[in-house]
Amino acid sequence: VNSAKSAAIAKTGAKTRVIHGGALWQPQIGSARDYDSIVTADVNDAWYPPAPRVLETIAEWTPRVHHSPDTSGQLLLHAIAKFHGVPIESIRLGAGASDLLHHIISSSVASGDEVLTLDPTYSEYRRIAWLAGASVRPIDIRRLDQSKPRLIALCNPNNPTGHVLTRAELLHIVQSVPRHTFVLIDEAYIDFAPDESLIADAPQFENLIVIRTFSKAYALAGLRVGYAVMGERVRDLLDRRGRAPWPVGLLGLRAAETALEERCYVRQRVAELGELKNSLIASLPVPTLPSATHYFLADLQATGMTASAVLSHMNDRGIYLRGLAGFTNRELERFIRITTQGPADNLRIAKAFRELSL
Ligand SMILES: Cc1ncc(COP(=O)(O)O)c(C=O)c1O
Repeated sequence: VNSAKSAAIAKTGAKTRVIHGGALWQPQIGSARDYDSIVTADVNDAWYPPAPRVLETIAEWTPRVHHSPDTSGQLLLHAIAKFHGVPIESIRLGAGASDLLHHIISSSVASGDEVLTLDPTYSEYRRIAWLAGASVRPIDIRRLDQSKPRLIALCNPNNPTGHVLTRAELLHIVQSVPRHTFVLIDEAYIDFAPDESLIADAPQFENLIVIRTFSKAYALAGLRVGYAVMGERVRDLLDRRGRAPWPVGLLGLRAAETALEERCYVRQRVAELGELKNSLIASLPVPTLPSATHYFLADLQATGMTASAVLSHMNDRGIYLRGLAGFTNRELERFIRITTQGPADNLRIAKAFRELSL
């Protein structure tokens, strides 16, 4: 019995292990100087710093970090409510989108439930659902009436493909699912397709949850700030579960408040990223798939090289890209995800690809 039990635990362990990028923090990389020499195109963080006023705010509040932050994060809640035109009661803060994803999925899904996701998509939805004992299947938008999932978790724009679902497609899903189905839309990259957002609609649908983060276009990944806007029924369910107090630290709260006031900066950076991405793609000797975001997939099939050979060639040059081996589908192993960097690092990526003489 024990060996069957440990085999089952090992199997769940393997299923629930998720690979994230983050080569930057390998133990052998010790000094701030080392960090600057590495190209971290394996994570979708911004290559640029936050807006200058956000950095000033962080500097201004740093001497006060001996204080606990406001437990409820009132000022940030007010700023978010005003920004999206949603009621304060519909917003919950979290230590990044990841914290909210864990809280929301594990509170709404139980053993035996079914969860639908895109395929491929961000692996955390699948992992959290599996940890809760649910089964996970790819969504078929034409056959929504044939299943009764507890949760549909969508990433829009999607990671790792950069594909965008339109508002009309999303509203169709939200309106056609049974009442007991929650629809979660992770808008981590919505700054690349702002017109398709459903965040302002979330409070009107009792089963809709929209998640945002300051980690991507706002360039605050290190501070861990995210929020969710949701309908009443989801809210009640989450609040019954309870959470640890102070999900966001003092610097995170203050920086995010200022970041929302610096929309112009983010808009300019996102537009600039689009141009940087186009020149990077034009300089690569491999075909790439269309993407609305700053990351995109390079297809290695025609090159005759495996992703692991390309990744190790890049790593030897201090360049980290993301293989898709950790995603569900083995066919994806011929793709590599590349996250657009600033001009100098993009040149390094292109040069390293050219050295492969593909
Ligand atoms: C789709 C998606 N959602 C959420 C996250 C995590 O974001 P956060 O830093 O806010 O936890 C990521 C990070 O890569 C992501 O790709």
